[in-house]
Amino acid sequence: MNKEDILYWLREKDEHKLNKLWNMADSVRKQFVGDEVHLRGLIEISNYCKKNCLYCGIRVYNTKLTRYRMRDDEILECVKFARKNGYGTIVIQSGEDTYFSRDEIAELIIKIKKHADVAITLSLGECDEQSLKIWKEAGANRYLLRFETSDEELFERIHTAKQSKSLERRIRQIEELKRLGYEAGSGIMIGIPYQTYESLANDILLFKKLDIDMIGIGPYIPHPETPLGREFIKDYKNDEERFVPNTEIMTYKVIALTRIICPDTNIPATTALATINTREGRILGLKRGANVIMPNLTPPKYKKLYEIYPGKSSADDEPEVIHQNVLKVIEQAGRRVGKGMGNRREL
Ligand code: 5AD
Ligand code: SF4
Repeated sequence: MNKEDILYWLREKDEHKLNKLWNMADSVRKQFVGDEVHLRGLIEISNYCKKNCLYCGIRVYNTKLTRYRMRDDEILECVKFARKNGYGTIVIQSGEDTYFSRDEIAELIIKIKKHADVAITLSLGECDEQSLKIWKEAGANRYLLRFETSDEELFERIHTAKQSKSLERRIRQIEELKRLGYEAGSGIMIGIPYQTYESLANDILLFKKLDIDMIGIGPYIPHPETPLGREFIKDYKNDEERFVPNTEIMTYKVIALTRIICPDTNIPATTALATINTREGRILGLKRGANVIMPNLTPPKYKKLYEIYPGKSSADDEPEVIHQNVLKVIEQAGRRVGKGMGNRREL
């Protein structure tokens, strides 16, 4: 499939024709990654962030938000839950929180590894090479860092750091991750204001070029306490001929196309997707190319505060409830829970 084909599908609206795309993606998924759905237990350890991304609810300038950091013993409780339920991966996520030192994160990784035989994914934002090396040595296996968009101008418009080359720097970190032996995750948001079809097609091709191991794709959800969200809610009227809408169907199209173009990669049915369609967002994601779910194991009192966008799916539910729901989703999609760590290429 080339760029022309990608653009054709991104603009296709006919439900019958789209069925062909869903079927293609589903059969590629089956052939390359099988029926297993890998569970990655997500722990949001801190909602402090020094950055100011214009779309994100936990940006530093959102002063209305109560901030928290989880203690080690609270984090290890979540790890225990994950281990008991056979999860192969723990994802440690936070904003860009300067409070934790490099060594503290390394110690946390070592502690988690002692508690459970799991793969550890870090998702702590941009950081320096030395930290990545030390965390790798401590036992981290993967790192998630979304590039958000491959369009430099759009990237700069939605981020405040008005330094040029900010997209380039992010892509450099992704390449660095691969060099250091991490599995590298990345991803994008669908339908950020002024995102063109062309840029979205380029995003998918960039996943391929960078050989990304896990690709998170979710709709942009406007947050009223952010500059971009306020603009969107107040006066953004999307011209759908020119710019990509932040719809559910567009998200499935990108998941399906990404599966076809990067056949053996891991693709989660994201929480953002479950947020815009609680009943069947994840099920349809799994049926249209996805093969991973990241159940949120953060205790509800904290999870509610990790509000990157409003209405986050299952924000009030305890891990046990979340877990049972996820098992139901997997069953309803006609799939089974993955065994082992669910590495992209089994070691
Ligand atoms: N809507 C959807 N996704 C968002 N993210 C941040 N803010 C939003 C939003 N308003 C995503 C970004 C980021 C990840 C942590 O969450 O892609 O990389
Ligand atoms: Fe911070 Fe990430 Fe949100 Fe940006 S997207 S403000 S780096 S948590």
